[in-house]
Amino acid sequence: MMAGLFITFEGGEGSGKTTQIRLLAQALESMGKSVLLTREPGGSEGAEKIRPLLVCGNANWDALTEVLLFSAARRDHLVNKIWPALKEGKIVLCDRFADSTLAYQGYGRKDDKELQQKLMDLYQMIAGDFRPDLTFILDVEPEIGLKRSCDRLGNNERRFEDMDIQFHQNLRQAFLKIAQQDSQRCHVIQTNRSVDDIHQDIMEIVKQYV
Ligand code: TMP
Repeated sequence: MMAGLFITFEGGEGSGKTTQIRLLAQALESMGKSVLLTREPGGSEGAEKIRPLLVCGNANWDALTEVLLFSAARRDHLVNKIWPALKEGKIVLCDRFADSTLAYQGYGRKDDKELQQKLMDLYQMIAGDFRPDLTFILDVEPEIGLKRSCDRLGNNERRFEDMDIQFHQNLRQAFLKIAQQDSQRCHVIQTNRSVDDIHQDIMEIVKQYV
């Protein structure tokens, strides 16, 4: 049992996760909570070294190699950052986590049950029964999200943004499916509203946990 609380933010490109996670961190800190704000891929020294291999350029990783790189980064992040912070009782807010692997490396590519099972087995190997306490899935129309994300990123870190629109549509459906399958943990947040309205909705839910 970990003393802290583990909250993850998920969604397609340009869904506003990063803005919302920052607002939540500020709100929790102003309530006197001890917060760790982190991200994947990355978040620890080792995992940040792996990140550029995955998000920059157009490396044509074999699907299993890509999953192993994300998993290696995740294991380093868990061992060196997330688990120690949770043991200290912190609220850990993570910009993307294992649902992104299931969506991007699993359903986003094709609806292949065998592949999805392998991804879940691999997760079990690196994290055991550990799961987020709460997950927000920020839902955005792919066309709108991609435009926002590409305007912001320019030519950097856009390996996944450069995938075709069908991939991003599959991704959106994948996140909705994940939310449906684990509706206790996952809350879908509609993002076609003001930043402040979205933040208020998120706060209402988080207050039930802190
Ligand atoms: P970011 O743009 O939200 O920082 O995320 C980096 C990219 O990595 C994003 O395009 C999604 C992708 N990603 C995966 O494909 N699988 C994963 O498991 C994670 C954590 C991220």
